[in-house]
Amino acid sequence: METRIPVGVLGATGMVGQHFVKFLQNHPWFELVWLAASDRSAGKPYLEATAWRLNGVMPSSVERKKVEECKPGNGAPRLVFSAMDASVATEIEREFAQAGHVVVSNSRNHRMEPDVPLLIPEVNPDHLKIIPLQQRRRGWKGQIATNPNCSTIVLAMALAPLKQFGIRRVVATTMQAISGAGYPGVASMDINANVIPFIGSEEEKMQQETQKILGDFTGDSIQPLAAKVSAHCNRVPVVDGHMVATSVELERKPTLAEMIQAMDSFRSVPQQRNLPSAPEHPVQYMEAQDRPQPRRDAERDRGMAVYVGRLRECPALDYKFIALGHNTIRGAAGAAVLNAELMYSEGLLD
Ligand SMILES: NC(=O)c1ccc[n+]([C@@H]2O[C@H](COP(=O)([O-])OP(=O)(O)OC[C@H]3O[C@@H](n4cnc5c(N)ncnc54)[C@H](OP(=O)(O)O)[C@@H]3O)[C@@H](O)[C@H]2O)c1
Repeated sequence: METRIPVGVLGATGMVGQHFVKFLQNHPWFELVWLAASDRSAGKPYLEATAWRLNGVMPSSVERKKVEECKPGNGAPRLVFSAMDASVATEIEREFAQAGHVVVSNSRNHRMEPDVPLLIPEVNPDHLKIIPLQQRRRGWKGQIATNPNCSTIVLAMALAPLKQFGIRRVVATTMQAISGAGYPGVASMDINANVIPFIGSEEEKMQQETQKILGDFTGDSIQPLAAKVSAHCNRVPVVDGHMVATSVELERKPTLAEMIQAMDSFRSVPQQRNLPSAPEHPVQYMEAQDRPQPRRDAERDRGMAVYVGRLRECPALDYKFIALGHNTIRGAAGAAVLNAELMYSEGLLD
């Protein structure tokens, strides 16, 4: 691409915003030109407004960039990624879409609205077809697309290759990293050598979002998958990488080999179109009996693939396995950037 597409980040000073800044460095299609945050940060250079919490130093290209207010027309480019605090994202994202911006959001606020795609490019790229309806209904020149919650995306990617066998029931138990709670997150006195068996609203999100993601676009709506999904969500003392212990009941029971073949051979539109952030193999089966593990495997493939292991018969449902994904990359910034790449390849950024 000769001229890269200018992009901005709403909520650029926060944890997920920093992941966007890092992930977008040297992106072949997108050039990060605009950063915005609350009025506490607006007007300051990014270096001064941001307490950089990621490994490695803040990229020098953003250090001196002035942080803007999260207001449309403020020099904001057409494509903006959103990593804003959920308490303000609903209205601000709507204002941007109304003003003609393409908002690719990581926040939960609009995910379950019926005319908003809850997108995983490998799993439901056709859900983007709801966008013209969204624009007509709301009278928007712009649009909003969202990515799933960080644990949902791991489960939905692991289940997607199994959809062909007819998914009836799913029981998923998470072991979620502390980075998923943002900064400062969970107090060290609570999480060290401990497990916290509660993450507010997470179970409901996992259950509903999985059904929507694996649902079908019918021409004018997204029909959720009829499968029952039950989630137990736990916070564990792991830095990065959410694990999901999953049992699944299927309509047509494949062999173990067919299940592994379905996962390993799973490819979709991002791989066919060679989208820059797409992993070559989005779901990878690991044969070793003690893998995947967060510390060893979450960062493989730039944190963009989901790893599955320990597939075996389940005495209660049909099969059980463990799935792992990087929560702040595939579960947040990387997911949104891949969404935008898919949208560009569909002509939605023209
Ligand atoms: N942390 C994760 O792993 C994770 C994963 C998936 C999804 N999410 C979602 O991603 C979003 C961001 O999470 P986070 O952990 O990055 O939060 P965070 O670190 O608290 O950052 C929040 C961002 O929102 C900005 N903000 C706050 N109030 C604002 C206002 N009134 N107007 C405009 N901007 C405002 C903040 O700017 P200032 O610095 O100026 O206050 C900051 O840039 C949330 O919706 C969260 O649920 C987080």
